[in-house]
Amino acid sequence: MAFTFFFRDQQVLERAVEYSLPSLAGRNHPRIWDAGVAMGQEPFTVSILFAERMGHFAFNNLRIEATDVENTGQFRLAIEAAVYPQEELSRLPQGILEKYFEEDGRPGYLRVIDKVRRRVTFQCHDLLSFKEIGHGYSLIVCKNVLLHFQPGERIEVLKMFHRALAPGGFLATEQTQEMPPQLAHLFERVIPDGHLFRKVESGDGAA
Ligand SMILES: C[S@@+](CC[C@H](N)C(=O)[O-])C[C@H]1O[C@@H](n2cnc3c(N)ncnc32)[C@H](O)[C@@H]1O
Repeated sequence: MAFTFFFRDQQVLERAVEYSLPSLAGRNHPRIWDAGVAMGQEPFTVSILFAERMGHFAFNNLRIEATDVENTGQFRLAIEAAVYPQEELSRLPQGILEKYFEEDGRPGYLRVIDKVRRRVTFQCHDLLSFKEIGHGYSLIVCKNVLLHFQPGERIEVLKMFHRALAPGGFLATEQTQEMPPQLAHLFERVIPDGHLFRKVESGDGAA
């Protein structure tokens, strides 16, 4: 269930970063929510993709809030340490390894550099509580998680994401999940070849 790797679904994540960048510009502390992050490879990938596109000052204001239902502390420790086996990093895009990872002192392991690591915080959160962790997110990433839920649960989680997003904010989900037709008025698809959606205001003030 916790299978993941760096730069998984790279194309959708790159488009998500590209589309949400303009809306980050005017915000003091732009917020990103990455839900269901396992050992942290995905939020660090998102952090790297933003680092590639943002100036130093703007990037240092970015907050990537990583959450997972796992509550043994295992994921929190992994994300705080940000240390990964080198063999896991062998297929990163050209130049990324040298730029964003450093020696950890242990042979065979590399650590995400502080600049990228500091942007990511972890908290335990159950998506099936249907309670958002905050509001005003410019981007929510939730990939390879929704497929584990029942159709009715999926709808409630997507409504929660709608409430949590800033006006015009973006949602990136896994390729295998279609947007349920009853939520078509809440999200518009922005790219034909990936599951990236923009929040549409519901009109009645409620999702
Ligand atoms: C396959 S991993 C996906 C990791 C990453 N998002 C990716 O796409 O590579 C699924 C993650 O969803 C988490 N998860 C499952 N049910 C959840 C729930 N109810 N609330 C939050 N996270 C959940 C699991 O603990 C696991 O870490």
